[in-house]
Amino acid sequence: MIRDLGRIEELGIFEGINEIIATTVSEAGVPNAAPLGLIRRGEVLSVRLFVGTHTYENIMSEKKFVANVSHDPILFVETALEDISEENFVERDGELTLKDAEAWALFRCEPNGLDIALPEVEFVKGEVLWREFRAVNRGINLVVEAAVAATRYVALKSDLYLEEIFKIRRIVNRCGGPQEIEAMNRLEELIEGFG
Ligand SMILES: Cc1cc2nc3c(=O)[nH]c(=O)nc-3n(C[C@H](O)[C@H](O)[C@H](O)COP(=O)(O)O)c2cc1C
Repeated sequence: MIRDLGRIEELGIFEGINEIIATTVSEAGVPNAAPLGLIRRGEVLSVRLFVGTHTYENIMSEKKFVANVSHDPILFVETALEDISEENFVERDGELTLKDAEAWALFRCEPNGLDIALPEVEFVKGEVLWREFRAVNRGINLVVEAAVAATRYVALKSDLYLEEIFKIRRIVNRCGGPQEIEAMNRLEELIEGFG
């Protein structure tokens, strides 16, 4: 049950799946960032974690994560497919966040043993850092979609995901700005390394 619905919405988290970049810290204190779907259905917030990632390990041990709201296509691609450098992180109010986040929100959760789904997460605190008013652009959403396909390609090596990425590439070239095009270049470069 979300106790402070208004506050969550102020931070940019609405009904449905919010694609955020989760920052977490390992038991040994190593920072990590990776895209994560923060699911809001009515009054319930949850995440689904797949085993074998740093994010899974860190949430299991530290029982918390920060949801960073971002529209930066390059950050989505790089955090999905590689480890970003420490200079991308900054501590705010004692929590690990992304330097370029638009807003951040700390969530706590009680991992339930070996289950990959964490049924509920609880909002603790957060902050809006900057707001940008913009029209819908298909480019950024498609880069996020391509990043999802890329993480599946890395895990399953099915060429179907490559076909999806090539299809997306054509639309991003037409609809996206220079940042989206650079993000797709980076994505292609990174998945080649997994080929
Ligand atoms: C937009 C997007 C959403 C994602 N959502 C999830 C998710 O909800 N749960 C999950 O376990 N992985 C999700 N992933 C995949 C992880 O981000 C990916 O496996 C990543 O490499 C994990 O990195 P890490 O090992 O540094 O934690 C998502 C990826 C993208 C691009």
